[in-house]
Amino acid sequence: MNSLGKKIGRALVLSGALATVVLAYSSTGSVPSEEAPFPRDFLWGVANSAFQVEGNPGDSDWSRFTRRPGAIRDGTNADVATDFWNRYEEDFALANKIGLNAFRISIAWERIAPRDGEWDAGALAHYRKIISAMRKYGLEPIVTLQHFALPGWLVDEGGLLSPRFAEVFAEYARYVIPALSEGSEGVRIWLTMNEPELMAFLGYNVGVWPPALAKSRRGSEALLALARGHVAAVRAVRSLVPPETKFGIAKNWMVFTPIRRNGIDSLAANIVNRYGNLAFLDALLTGQANFRFLDGDTYRGRLNIPKGFRALDFIGLNYYTRNQVGIVPRPPFYASRFGPGMKSDLGWEIYPEGIESAIRQAHAKFKLPILISENGIADADDSRRAEFVKDHLQKLRKLNSERIPLLGYLHWSLTDNFEWADGLTPRFGLVGIDYATGARFPRPSYRAYGDEVVRERAKSRER
Ligand code: FCB
Repeated sequence: MNSLGKKIGRALVLSGALATVVLAYSSTGSVPSEEAPFPRDFLWGVANSAFQVEGNPGDSDWSRFTRRPGAIRDGTNADVATDFWNRYEEDFALANKIGLNAFRISIAWERIAPRDGEWDAGALAHYRKIISAMRKYGLEPIVTLQHFALPGWLVDEGGLLSPRFAEVFAEYARYVIPALSEGSEGVRIWLTMNEPELMAFLGYNVGVWPPALAKSRRGSEALLALARGHVAAVRAVRSLVPPETKFGIAKNWMVFTPIRRNGIDSLAANIVNRYGNLAFLDALLTGQANFRFLDGDTYRGRLNIPKGFRALDFIGLNYYTRNQVGIVPRPPFYASRFGPGMKSDLGWEIYPEGIESAIRQAHAKFKLPILISENGIADADDSRRAEFVKDHLQKLRKLNSERIPLLGYLHWSLTDNFEWADGLTPRFGLVGIDYATGARFPRPSYRAYGDEVVRERAKSRER
């Protein structure tokens, strides 16, 4: 056997061993014959992010990007979006009405710190009001500190590549987190950031998101900055918040399967899984960073994590779809495509099996509780969403019955919103938005999700 053959053989043995472990794990002991109810405090909610819904955005990389001709596929911007900044109470009432008990939002860094070293106390007070309103509607606030957008002043000095990134991110955390965690009404569940690998990959490798540096070979440097930023932020605030406060990140988790059932495509799927799904969490939890991007850019080194420091209390997992990957005989020798099943309006395959395998893998590897921090579908005519939700929840029920620790399920999203480079065209809402008036119109799937939640919460109460 040549050496490539040997490598592939070894990879197959390894992945075979992994499959055996996973199977053994899932068939040992604790699989009850009946479905167990979810815990009483299971979070049933929805998720959004500041830039995508608030409207009237401050100066950020994303507000600048939307001004760039051709950057946003449908030529739209987020100048008005859903006007969540003013209409948040309507949305909380809609969430409350179908029995939800949780709502994930994010804070716009550029509103809180419009200029370097300057804090806007008014913006902070407004977020405090938003959080109190959530509590009033019986919704547990889950708050992301930074969801893609970066303040303009920071972008001017290099954004993620600024040597000060971790430091200024920690200062931002220190200004926001203790203030919004204060008192019995305060936030107890924080996500420092959203989908770090995706942000670095699309910004510095593919180049379709700001700063639009295609094949820059700086993706791993950007990712390292995010990892350091997370550690610095949690270190800065851990002792300043109530002890029950939990910290996590929202991790993009794409499921990768081989295009062809052969060794080389399986090897490709394993590698992409390692760098796309595991590497960042691994860095935070072991201190050992090992990053790699498709343009060949790599980083291997240690993060400065003090002994005994707990970087994550839970994993927020964003799951949407799977990709099939494989090796092809022409440059770049790597192929990736959405799976063959039914598709969303964005062409993403509907693949509920993936939420199960993602959770199994995340749990087996990191042994932390898991919050599904996003899961949803672009479906303008709402013909697939109710079924989509039902099928994904069915997988969660099964995992919950096996006692895999699940904290909650947050659907992306309550309302339609600005979908980054795809603009306002994709419709991710259980509730539609008429962008001319801002009016909210519930779609049939809104009720369908509510019915599932009410049923599950009743079962939890009986347990
Ligand atoms: C995720 C993002 C979120 C939203 C959904 C559809 O990657 O975290 O902001 O755009 O996709």
